[in-house]
Amino acid sequence: MTQPLLQVKGLTKRFKDRTVVRDVAFSIAEGSCAALLGPNGAGKTTTISMLAGLLQPTSGSIQLLDQSKPVTDRRMFIGYLPQMPVFYPWMTGREFLRYAAELAGLAGRDAVLKTDEWLENVGLQHAASRRIGGYSGGMKQRLGLAQALIHRPKLLILDEPVSALDPAGRKDVLNLLQRIRLETTVLFSTHVLHDAEEICDEILMIREGEIALQGKLDQIRREYSEPVIRIEVGGDPVSLKWMASISSKAFVRQAEITGNRARLTVTDVEKASFELMADAVSHQVAFRKFESGQSTLEDLFLKVVQA
Ligand SMILES: Nc1ncnc2c1ncn2[C@@H]1O[C@H](COP(=O)(O)OP(=O)(O)OP(=O)(O)O)[C@@H](O)[C@H]1O
Ligand SMILES: [Mg+2]
Repeated sequence: MTQPLLQVKGLTKRFKDRTVVRDVAFSIAEGSCAALLGPNGAGKTTTISMLAGLLQPTSGSIQLLDQSKPVTDRRMFIGYLPQMPVFYPWMTGREFLRYAAELAGLAGRDAVLKTDEWLENVGLQHAASRRIGGYSGGMKQRLGLAQALIHRPKLLILDEPVSALDPAGRKDVLNLLQRIRLETTVLFSTHVLHDAEEICDEILMIREGEIALQGKLDQIRREYSEPVIRIEVGGDPVSLKWMASISSKAFVRQAEITGNRARLTVTDVEKASFELMADAVSHQVAFRKFESGQSTLEDLFLKVVQA
């Protein structure tokens, strides 16, 4: 069993009389990558700000362990990239990283070496002498990652690292994160499930400040996947009437029907397929589309978020 690197218990944040993070508990094992997943306003930034030490929790505890011993000052062990990082546009990438290295306690030759190493790691060596004001969003985000990692933190915390980027920038940063996560424990927030699936092995879903679901990604996928049938029929009255009747079938556990389309969670895909087809034929209803399979993590995410 891997020792947790971070252990959070009962974490709560209240602003005046509003509780925006409530009794959040989780742990992150060394070497893992966890995604804090939730819709806008769920409390991701508030949670992350408390972990990064920028916001004082109303109650609860955050413990970081270094070689199984609790750390009193987390800051040197954490690398952090905020949701909207602010850079001095007149500085060059190299100057900024050098400055970040010195702030992180590196000095002289060490700071110079680390600056060059990280410029290269994030693919900015060619742009190192250009002003940050002229960088693209993706380049700025890669510079931000270099800044967060330059002191070799044990835990990298990123708040929506790709949300503001165009597809190319997004791909660059996600590729970089794939590499980083092999060496560093990572926690990042996102409202995009796909990004979480691409990089992480653990997810923490939060909704209205509370953990709604957490666990290993593959385990959750297995545990929550259900047989699903999606069908589409014509828009004629006979078809629509038939559509409205199918939710009462015995094999349907849950039905979402909108006009000529339906998504059915069923008890047994094969049995449900035969019966639906036979029933449609006997009512002279033709399918435009018929698809059977398993529910995806996206379905689960939407269900959790909208519950
Ligand atoms: N300083 C503050 N004072 C009062 N309310 C706040 C403060 N900061 C955040 N909130 C509220 O807390 C809730 C959670 O905000 P938070 O920024 O943590 O959400 P988020 O999940 O990061 O959302 P987004 O996806 O939009 O970044 C929101 O309703 C927000 O309005
Ligand atoms: Mg946020």
